[in-house]
Amino acid sequence: MLRTSVLRLLGRPGTSGVSLLEYSSPRHYSSGPLGAPDDGRGARAFFTTPIFYVNAAPHIGHLYSALLADALCRHRRLQVPSAAATRFSTGTDEHGLKIQQAAAAAGLAPTELCDRVSAQFQQLFREAGISSTDFIRTTEARHRIAVQHFWGLLKARGLLYKGLYEGWYCSSEECFLPEAKVTRQPGSSGDSCPVSLESGHPVSWTKEENYIFRLSQFREPLQRWLRGDPQAITPEPFHRAVLEWLEEELPDLSVSRKSSHLHWGIPVPGDDSQTIYVWLDALVNYLTVIGYPNAEFKSWWPTTSHIIGKDILKFHAIYWPALLLGAGMSPPHRIYVHSHWTVCGQKMSKSLGNVVDPRTCLDRYTVDGFRYFLLRQGVPNWDCDYYDEKVVKLLDSELADALGGLLNRCTAKRINPSGTYPVFCTTCFPSEPGLVGPSVRAQAEDYALVNAVATLPGQVADHYDNFQIYKALEAVSSCVRQTNGFVQRHAPWKLNWESPVDAPWLGTVLHVALECLRVFGTLLQPVTPNLADKLLSRLGVSATERGLGELYFLPRFYGHPCPFEGRRLGPETGLLFPRLDQSRAWLVKAHRT
Ligand code: MSP
Repeated sequence: MLRTSVLRLLGRPGTSGVSLLEYSSPRHYSSGPLGAPDDGRGARAFFTTPIFYVNAAPHIGHLYSALLADALCRHRRLQVPSAAATRFSTGTDEHGLKIQQAAAAAGLAPTELCDRVSAQFQQLFREAGISSTDFIRTTEARHRIAVQHFWGLLKARGLLYKGLYEGWYCSSEECFLPEAKVTRQPGSSGDSCPVSLESGHPVSWTKEENYIFRLSQFREPLQRWLRGDPQAITPEPFHRAVLEWLEEELPDLSVSRKSSHLHWGIPVPGDDSQTIYVWLDALVNYLTVIGYPNAEFKSWWPTTSHIIGKDILKFHAIYWPALLLGAGMSPPHRIYVHSHWTVCGQKMSKSLGNVVDPRTCLDRYTVDGFRYFLLRQGVPNWDCDYYDEKVVKLLDSELADALGGLLNRCTAKRINPSGTYPVFCTTCFPSEPGLVGPSVRAQAEDYALVNAVATLPGQVADHYDNFQIYKALEAVSSCVRQTNGFVQRHAPWKLNWESPVDAPWLGTVLHVALECLRVFGTLLQPVTPNLADKLLSRLGVSATERGLGELYFLPRFYGHPCPFEGRRLGPETGLLFPRLDQSRAWLVKAHRT
């Protein structure tokens, strides 16, 4: 049989009847604060994770996707605290051939498999503190209504036609692959089996009459959208990659399968012999959760930020915006893309038996510890490698020793016997550097510290905006180190509260260090919510004083009153983050086996 490298479209495409002029002016946004598009809708922001396949239990890669979205959303809530201003959805992707086959292999009805694995995702996300406002399952009735309505719009706009579609289909990736993306591998009986070049999963030749979406018409509108909004896909290398893909021909897309082949899905309205393509079904979840097709969805679309892994970029950056444009809507505000976790240098996979169970990690390292690790070490631009020793080393040095140690040094009874936020002395630490006088004690490095911590919230916000959360954490960690250096330099334990010469400076050193800690605690809330709460509570910072709007660092230095000065610290509740290397018996055991 003659098999072409490009999928052959044997249908007779007519004209769509839709003017592409409609698609020529997607909304433009300012590069303002995260999730706050300059679109006249005020401060609303809607964050999404991908919806997760239920063919297997969740692993740390899935949790990472959800944590990135959670941290972005929590940071946003610190900027705009009104609960009505932010939405955050996650969920499970339950239809399609992949699930149908996984259920059959497990001897279960698809609904049983979906219920079981969806519950595992829900439990994991609850335990990991994922603060989503909606968890969608694509098997819900509200979703079927949304998908069928969306389909109806595409149909009415002349963007769907019936044609013969053939090519290699990979059920694991749930997509057709061009010949160039297919290779041969020896199978179990020695014969040569076609597999996906990228994932190694089997592919099979499929030839069917399907509904086809006129994707080819959207190449230029997509290029205009991306060229007009350089931050639409962040980080930049992914934006560039999509523009490069769009240099190539963009073939039309098969958007249904024969129900006799794929029954586990949403039927095409008015044609029960066809089931809607699982990716179209899945992508519409982002509309379902905001009430689509009811008009209420318009107050949340397109102020949307999708957080996705690099493997699903094409679906989100080409298919989805094209489908949206086709339905008369704007593309999403932002697509934030991350890379993958490998384990000891290898791709995580069930067949290699190296899948890392996120619940075990949450138990071992605590919720905040593991959240901190994944977000501190995960770099969106490239893959990161996971191994247990790395977690222990990072958490011991940054959370237990540096941050926990700093808090302990400034609040311990022997150094801060009154248990209060001490008074800042402006003559010991004048706002102008370089002044000399008998009571001036601050040195050049101390001014550098104040400057670093004063500019930290802005830097952190920029890193969040650029989807570089690890850099935000790196910046916080560097300031924690600097603050420890400050305390070490001035050795408050050598100063005496009873001495009229020492006391004002001792109070000032502790005041500055506590102010730095207050900034760190506030900025860490999106990543380590429980630890940040413990830290801020110990400092006596109330629930209404924890937003970014209230974060005035060291006001006394700038000549303003400080609401914390003289306030009682919160109760002592033990170590901020206990060292892990004491309790590493399981790690040694794991290495012996
Ligand atoms: N169901 C689709 C998404 C549909 S969204 C409309 C899907 N599901 S998935 O379960 O395979 O993947 C969900 C997310 O997990 C994706 O963002 C994917 O990139 C991410 N990860 C899967 N494996 C991963 C790693 N090893 N590391 C990091 N993230 C990984 O795709």
